[in-house]
Amino acid sequence: MTVINSIADLRAIAKRRVPKAIFEYVDHGSYDELTFGRNRSDFEALRFRQKVLVDVRAQSMQREILGVTANMPAVIAPTGLTGLVHRDGEILAAQAAEAFGIPFCLSTVSVCSIEDVREATTAPFWFQLYVMKDRGYTAALMDRAEAAGCPVLVLTVDIPVSGLRRRDAKNGLAVPPRLTLRNTLDIMTKPAWAYGVLMGKRKTFGNLAAAVPHTGGMATLSQWIASQFDASVTWKDLEQIRARWKGKLVVKGILDADDARQAVALGADAVVVSNHGGRQLDGAPSSIAALPRVVEAVAGRGEVMLDGGIRSGQDILKSVALGANAVMTGRAFLYGLGARGREGVKMALDIMSGELKVSLALTGCNDVRDASPDILYRD
Ligand code: GLV
Repeated sequence: MTVINSIADLRAIAKRRVPKAIFEYVDHGSYDELTFGRNRSDFEALRFRQKVLVDVRAQSMQREILGVTANMPAVIAPTGLTGLVHRDGEILAAQAAEAFGIPFCLSTVSVCSIEDVREATTAPFWFQLYVMKDRGYTAALMDRAEAAGCPVLVLTVDIPVSGLRRRDAKNGLAVPPRLTLRNTLDIMTKPAWAYGVLMGKRKTFGNLAAAVPHTGGMATLSQWIASQFDASVTWKDLEQIRARWKGKLVVKGILDADDARQAVALGADAVVVSNHGGRQLDGAPSSIAALPRVVEAVAGRGEVMLDGGIRSGQDILKSVALGANAVMTGRAFLYGLGARGREGVKMALDIMSGELKVSLALTGCNDVRDASPDILYRD
């Protein structure tokens, strides 16, 4: 029995089990992947101050996220096509998040629908919104999220146009998956996936299937996104969404201090410092490098979260130390999901929380709420 004790272990298993086109959709960034790479290397460059001879028996990793106590300062990030990584992927991830005691956020471009996830879970989950060209449909999505009891709407603002993910174009990633000669050979080596996903009932965009044209004719996913997402979205839309949505509103995809100030001034309850996992503007700074400026700009008028590059509890602690209230984890949970389904998501969360707990103790902290820049070297 192989010992699995890192997110890298889960990634290696997922790579063997998930078809190449879908694995690479998850695993890569846009263009030359400079930002994607920085999301990792900037975390790696940060160094903890080890502190000794402190009584660290009373550890707490709990943190309030938008008014609700979570068992770790983390949220499962909204990720596209999760139900193609594993059958019923969004449902399984939501269940694992619920069992662990952290929020789950469902993507607009999920495979399981809002209603599917509602039916399969009891804890409230968050909903992530893309503004589609069809504004009536965008409003209908908000109504469905409200009807499902979602307490938080996460508006993603960094994809008015889609950055080219070169692998997706080369792999001909399409939704629902298309069986071409090349990928059929690949899928034949992934029988568990094929049995689960191809034989399952959900293979396309669960929230959108009823309203948007069938995607089968599109050469690639990015062409489909280009045809559906609205490139004319502005701050005015944020104001309208704020006026309409009664729950908490999070603006995701902020890297700039002025944008962060504007978002909270218009009523956002939180911003997510994010470069979309290095999948959009290549050449932008890493999320962790952008975080301190955003924290300073928001100045306590809202919460600040971060995503991009989180692969360990150490990364979570570094983010919290630099002022993030919580992180969002995308790829780390997707590797777990691809490797072992719901159990794999649980493993990913357990691995990261175990690492967080030990790192907290070795930096001389008992409570993750006390983590401050003081636990990092400044030089
Ligand atoms: C969609 O949001 C993506 O990043 O693929």
